[in-house]
Amino acid sequence: MPGLVIVGAQWGDEGKGKVVDLLAQQADAVIRFQGGNNAGHTIVLADQTYKFHLIPSGILYRGKLCVIGNGVVVDLRVLSGEIDGLRRRDIDLSGLRISANAHLIMPYHLLLDEAGEAKLGGREIGTTRRGIGPCYADKAARLGIRVQDVLDEKILKQKITAALEPKRLTLRDYVKDPRLDLRQMTEDYTSFGHRLEPYIADTPPIAWNALDEGRLVVFEGAQGTLLDIDHGTYPFVTSSNPVAGAACVGAGVGPSSIDHVWGVTKAYSTRVGAGPFPSELHDGLGEQLREAGAEFGTTTGRARRCGWLDVVALRYAVRVNGLTAVVITKLDVLTGIDPLRVAVGYVGPEGARFKDFPYHQSVLHAARAETVDLPGWHEDISQAREISHLPSAARGYLDFIEESLGIPVVMVGVGPGRDEIIWTDGARQLSAAR
Ligand code: GDP
Ligand code: IMO
Ligand code: MG
Repeated sequence: MPGLVIVGAQWGDEGKGKVVDLLAQQADAVIRFQGGNNAGHTIVLADQTYKFHLIPSGILYRGKLCVIGNGVVVDLRVLSGEIDGLRRRDIDLSGLRISANAHLIMPYHLLLDEAGEAKLGGREIGTTRRGIGPCYADKAARLGIRVQDVLDEKILKQKITAALEPKRLTLRDYVKDPRLDLRQMTEDYTSFGHRLEPYIADTPPIAWNALDEGRLVVFEGAQGTLLDIDHGTYPFVTSSNPVAGAACVGAGVGPSSIDHVWGVTKAYSTRVGAGPFPSELHDGLGEQLREAGAEFGTTTGRARRCGWLDVVALRYAVRVNGLTAVVITKLDVLTGIDPLRVAVGYVGPEGARFKDFPYHQSVLHAARAETVDLPGWHEDISQAREISHLPSAARGYLDFIEESLGIPVVMVGVGPGRDEIIWTDGARQLSAAR
């Protein structure tokens, strides 16, 4: 019963979409378990680029079961647009399933996200402004609207009325905003309901059945470990749990269904939005990484902050996710940078040294990375398809990561394209497990 969880080991945008797409070929089902359309997962197929925000990254295989799990927050307008976009490109959506228990991002969540950030001013989180935080807040407050609610207009109207009540004060600047019109909202969401009804399902049994039959099920994470609301750099985090444990809750399976947990990390680090980033580069090298890696957000288009690989943060990700292996993406982006640096410790305020990821915000916010130098390489590596094809310095870089993290590197990305990947035996075996 191979249940495989794929999570981001950094601050998101590690290349999870590409990895999930590759593994999905052999899987029976791909299940998104948290986050919403704050995610942007890119898959490059020859001259075609696909960017998914809500639809799981397995949809490019005809008929593949692709589940939006109960832990995801769904903006029906965005989902509807994503479905239309894929249909226009002749992508088969017959395998798409949406959990009836997933919560909906409503128009007022977008306004509240906007208002919340405006209120914070210079201390803003830099959210994607997709309404993620306010939607999860309503879920916890038991004021959420769920996918199943749009199938009954009367229930929907009652629930929207109840959800709006405690928000009146915060939304007073928007009272005349047509997006808050109760009748219109109910009508719009009921019509989304009609449209999406064929995809709405009781989704946990999809995972149970596939796992019972020993098939591969890929649980697709969004965001990354350091954006986790419990384990990340709070408050500069998202409002869900991108860590592996959340795959169980957000898909409806137990921990015993998970056999493998792979963390995806770039060969360097990036972060979009505000918050601590100890190995950030503020100089021309950071700029060089941004250009070479095309580091601009898939969802918001914002320039991503760039820095050296950080094994202090990655070792933390190994522990909080229980990673069994690591996937390195974008190794090609480091070509030509020599020497390479890797953060192996932090220096905190007053010169205190840290080998482990500090829990205290005052330490973390002031932490600077202590780095070691590793030799770089200058050869083009985009054609490498085996580890042995890589220059020795690149192999040395991967060895250093394996040794520092204590887990194997199972796949290595050497370009954005679907075929620009090195599969190791470990990855081949798992993907052939069905
Ligand atoms: P995700 O959110 O984790 O799925 O990652 P994104 O799609 O937001 O960002 C990753 C970006 O890196 C995308 O533009 C991918 O096409 C690209 N990418 C993924 N793997 C590689 C790789 O190995 N090399 C290069 N150069 N680009 C990659
Ligand atoms: P994928 O799945 C990178 C960041 C935002 C902000 C913080 C909170 O593509 O890796 P939110 O809108 O979630 O309330 O914003 O989280 N963020 C991401 N950064 N990749 C993502 O998703 C992200 N989703 C949210 O930039 O700092
Ligand atoms: Mg992304």
